[in-house]
Amino acid sequence: MAKEKVVLAYSGGLDTSVIVRWLQEEYDYEIVAMTADVGQGESELDGLEEKAIKTGASQIFVEDIREELVRDYIFPMVRSGAVYEGKYLLGTAIARPVIGKKLVEIANRVGATAVAHGATGKGNDQVRFEFAVKALNPYLKIVAPWREWKLQSRTDCMDYACRFDIPIPVTAEKPYSIDRNIWHISFEGGILEDPAREPDQDMFRLTVAPEDAPDYPEEVSIGFVKGTPVSVNGNELKPVELVEELNRIAGRNAVGRVDMVENRLLGMKSRGIYETPGGTLLTFAHRELEQYTLDRETYHYKEQIALKYAEMIYYGLWFTPLREALDGFINITQETVTGTVNIRLYKGNITVLGRQSEHTLYHPDMVTFEADELFDQKDAQGFINLYGLPLTIKGMMDLKKKRECQEV
Ligand code: ARG
Repeated sequence: MAKEKVVLAYSGGLDTSVIVRWLQEEYDYEIVAMTADVGQGESELDGLEEKAIKTGASQIFVEDIREELVRDYIFPMVRSGAVYEGKYLLGTAIARPVIGKKLVEIANRVGATAVAHGATGKGNDQVRFEFAVKALNPYLKIVAPWREWKLQSRTDCMDYACRFDIPIPVTAEKPYSIDRNIWHISFEGGILEDPAREPDQDMFRLTVAPEDAPDYPEEVSIGFVKGTPVSVNGNELKPVELVEELNRIAGRNAVGRVDMVENRLLGMKSRGIYETPGGTLLTFAHRELEQYTLDRETYHYKEQIALKYAEMIYYGLWFTPLREALDGFINITQETVTGTVNIRLYKGNITVLGRQSEHTLYHPDMVTFEADELFDQKDAQGFINLYGLPLTIKGMMDLKKKRECQEV
């Protein structure tokens, strides 16, 4: 009888190499490797096919999903305004659902009965992968070796690799865990676990330090159509190129670093360091344009939605009816978020220089003090009386009580 197949989310690193062998030993599966190109860069993708086969996979699919990731996941996130706990631009979190979706697609294509991933049992990523798989094909079995095996550390993995003659990836060992895609790089674990300790400067890859940035400012304009970024400095760009271009511009001006202690879904706090250069610019510019074009109540309500949306992305709740419903709301709000924002970057700072939009609700004659037809200053008196009525009544009652006390 043919062996059952498992599709493994494979990176070519030590962990997933060991997992290939472990799945054969423990489960007797035929291993199909799947690597999603999410913009992690050539060095991680180089020679993957050969490596996977050598390690014991029967075949490998390398799927370039950068376009889909940016267009269908990252840009909706930008339109939503989602930022987790005020700082994290959700770079790892937003990529997990689409990787999970690819796992399911490949599993369906090759007739696999299971999928596997190399996320550890303490992190958010296991939840995100598995929620995607459950939502899209709940009949697939999910194998998470890190939750099952006895290997505890990188050293254990190395020993396992030596024992079974698994080619050990030549990449230099890092004293922390990295996850990179087109939107960001995250660093956590290892020597970064001490929140009091500053990260080594040579760790960063997408951004320079402010002190190494140019001594002159750089200006950039970003164009949006219905909340979706479409151009940089007047040049229309496809989603992937647009993000890459903004990564370069922001990165060389030291924009986009974050160091934070965040709340994980599983309950513990963890310290993370992120580089999201282009994302920082996009989030900033998009907010500027919304402040210029949305009416007050929609803007305020959307701020609440953004909190929820960020939490849902962080928790891996992408393929859910609620997320789709929130998108319905968000997309309607974006109808008028079309225009351009000009910003200046200088040694890690972002300043808005100006904004333009045909849809703006900002009208100078409304705020100047000159008499006009739209606004009669006398109306303000009635407004204050009525809107302030609850305060007036409360104030009267308080005074009455005070007097009564003084009388006795
Ligand atoms: N703490 C971040 C998050 O949960 C980053 C996770 C990074 N993952 C990794 N496998 N290194 O989204």
